[in-house]
Amino acid sequence: MKAAVLHEVNKPLVIEDVSLPNPGPREVLIRTSVAGLCHSDLHFMEGLYPHPLPAVLGHESAGIVEKVGSDVNYVKPGDHVVTCLSVFCGTCDNCTMGRTVLCTDTTVKMLPIRKDMPLELAALIGCGVITGYGAVVNTAKVGPGENVVVIGCGGVGMAAINGAQIAGAGRIIAVDTNPAKLQLATKLGATDIVDPRNGDVVQQVRELTGGGVHHSFEVLGRKETAEQAFAMLAPGGTATIVGMIPFGQKIELHGFDFLRERKIQGSSMGSNHFRVDMPRLVEFYMRGRLHLEDWISAKLKLSEINEGFAEMKAGKTVRSVIMFDA
Ligand code: APR
Ligand code: ZN
Repeated sequence: MKAAVLHEVNKPLVIEDVSLPNPGPREVLIRTSVAGLCHSDLHFMEGLYPHPLPAVLGHESAGIVEKVGSDVNYVKPGDHVVTCLSVFCGTCDNCTMGRTVLCTDTTVKMLPIRKDMPLELAALIGCGVITGYGAVVNTAKVGPGENVVVIGCGGVGMAAINGAQIAGAGRIIAVDTNPAKLQLATKLGATDIVDPRNGDVVQQVRELTGGGVHHSFEVLGRKETAEQAFAMLAPGGTATIVGMIPFGQKIELHGFDFLRERKIQGSSMGSNHFRVDMPRLVEFYMRGRLHLEDWISAKLKLSEINEGFAEMKAGKTVRSVIMFDA
């Protein structure tokens, strides 16, 4: 089996043959059909998050079940599945309290999906889409008519914008340095666009909204943009940090802003309820409310994976996917 292996940070991935044992009692072997390139992988490749090496990256995928372990009854060979990092044991304190996304179990989970769902679109749901959509709908619980800003319109940010539209948000302001991204954001539901190159982002948002927003989402993973997200809130507003800020880096806020009940919070994998949210996202797509076709910037072969990450780094792509059978 071929895989792109990370041996050293800041070095290209190497395509190698790797072997996998038969699945254990509670494991499933999936033939991966499609894998999305996610910026989290790039954070690891750049050494911004410590991780033991060598490693096979990739966590946003869809495929077909090949074999299941003796205790597995939820999926069977031949099922089409989407994978997600949010595993849950179902019995720990966090799971019992309904916060399955905070379970400390750490193996990838999967969910069967309808067979008429295209696998290259299903792959995106397991990370990028649920992370952005879930941040808006589950973590921040954006209400009808509330104003929303999304900073960083990559795959995850676009899902936040589309999610805000599904949630019935009022103004949906997209912030990105790439005009092509801003244009696509408009198609997915953004009502206004802000280009940081045209001046101070916080000031531009304050002018558009007459004093700040109810909800801001940082979907990039940088100190400066996280600080912007908090600074652009109206009194009572909430900033939700989705991006992975480099490990060990601190962000600075004005203490005064808390006097008007501004809040800042993290969001992990869109606070998803895996078995409920994933089928809903598939249905949203099937009913034309989630515009997944627009996310795919390129379909690549595994041998083109390093080029794919270079384009991501240049901010050019929304989502590139690796097609394993291509
Ligand atoms: N202000 C706003 N947008 C910016 C800026 C900036 N200063 N600089 C870059 N961008 C835009 C890029 O043009 C790109 O469209 O941010 C976007 C980032 O998108 P991707 O690289 O596709 O990242 P994505 O996969 O969406 O992940 C974003 O969310 O889950 C986390 O780990 C993930 O931290 C990462 C973040
Ligand atoms: Zn991801």
